[in-house]
Amino acid sequence: MRVVMIGTGYVGLVSGACFADFGHDVTCVDKDEAKIARLREGVMPIYEPGLQALVARNVDEGRLTFSGDGAAIAAADAVFIAVGTPSRRGDGHADLSYVHAAAEDIAALVEGFTVVVTKSTVPVGTGDEVEAIIRRARPQADVAVVSNPEFLREGSAIEDFKRPDRVVVGLTDPRARGVMAELYRPLNLNETPMVFTDRRTSELIKYAANAFLAMKITFINEVADLCETVGADVQQVARGIGLDKRIGPKFLHAGPGYGGSCFPKDTLALARTAADAGAPLELVETATRVNAARKQAMAGRIAAALGGDLAGKTIGVLGLTFKPNTDDMREAPALEIVPRLQALGARVQAFDPEGHEARQLLAGVAFVEGPYEAVAGADAVVIITEWDQFRALDLARVKSLMRAPVVIDLRNIYRPEEMRRLGFTYASIGRA
Ligand SMILES: NC(=O)c1ccc[n+]([C@@H]2O[C@H](COP(=O)([O-])OP(=O)(O)OC[C@H]3O[C@@H](n4cnc5c(N)ncnc54)[C@H](O)[C@@H]3O)[C@@H](O)[C@H]2O)c1
Repeated sequence: MRVVMIGTGYVGLVSGACFADFGHDVTCVDKDEAKIARLREGVMPIYEPGLQALVARNVDEGRLTFSGDGAAIAAADAVFIAVGTPSRRGDGHADLSYVHAAAEDIAALVEGFTVVVTKSTVPVGTGDEVEAIIRRARPQADVAVVSNPEFLREGSAIEDFKRPDRVVVGLTDPRARGVMAELYRPLNLNETPMVFTDRRTSELIKYAANAFLAMKITFINEVADLCETVGADVQQVARGIGLDKRIGPKFLHAGPGYGGSCFPKDTLALARTAADAGAPLELVETATRVNAARKQAMAGRIAAALGGDLAGKTIGVLGLTFKPNTDDMREAPALEIVPRLQALGARVQAFDPEGHEARQLLAGVAFVEGPYEAVAGADAVVIITEWDQFRALDLARVKSLMRAPVVIDLRNIYRPEEMRRLGFTYASIGRA
């Protein structure tokens, strides 16, 4: 199949490279010319494990190309829209301007029967809008507009794309069903469930999935606070409830509150859609509110572990990205926590293996080149992101480098007994 992917970001680039790896002929398009130029030189615009090699292989074998324009749309069997849908400033609705612009581009160039697939996360009814834009510009165009939301996770994006729990496809046109089935045919081998449904249902499945996961995290975070107050251990509570198959063990890790490129904006957008439709989702509204307050409260929690006063203190921060194995800083808890620590008078020195964008986003921070540089001379260390390399620190060395041996572990990667035995003052989430 000939595929065009409009938008070559975390989703578009991974999806495009994986479709090429499935054997399709893929052109990844982006209006960011510098990104396309770098990709043509083999330089990845993002950090995603395994991506560089996957892209290189498919470029070498002639199945994957990059373009700054949509010329390849004319010959495509399927054109995917994988552009950003950030929160619209001021009201929390999804900003659909990039999706609409992509639909205009498609309308101008499409030839012959073409399946137009919205992979971006979009509010219910957006497929109708995409179709209306194309029909208005080209009433005779033979297009079927399909919803195919993406569920990959940054950090394990390739594995998630190639071995997903399910593929969701919303459509009515039987010809489009044939094209979508052919595109994902390699997944038949591992018997991936294909959920064919109508377009609106498909659009809503994506938001409902993200909202549910965001609520699950928020739930365990609130339980963690309760554990601290009553003297219980949230990790054992999580294990105890997670073994119940109706609950499941995943997304029950208490922490500083969820961030990232999806949950914050998608929960807000879903709550807005629901309120506008007169069917408010109060659980989701509450989760967004509780989570925002949680991220804001973390600096106070850190200050409390240091006796309440951060004036003149040096805090070493380990991890800045919203989660490990990505360079993505969007809505990262660190962006709330670090400025608040500074406002309380602390000096922050920080290390993240891939979160280079933090240098543009966080003013007044001393960015250092490794974890031991971040802890050197610190009055406390705060673990904000659980990169693997922070799980295996030489703790004796850490202790010897610090001014005072205080560790605030917002990801519960160390064991309280062990940290105390090693002589640290140790605070974590939801554990005595
Ligand atoms: N990042 C994730 O983990 C993830 C997971 C599942 C779904 N999604 C959804 O996928 C969509 C894309 O997310 P992302 O993280 O890949 O975004 P991103 O910001 O990394 O990438 C979007 C890309 O689209 C390009 N673009 C915008 N308008 C364009 C146009 N008209 N023509 C060509 N290129 C254009 C931008 O230059 C950018 O490179 C969003 O709707 C998001 O909610 C993201």
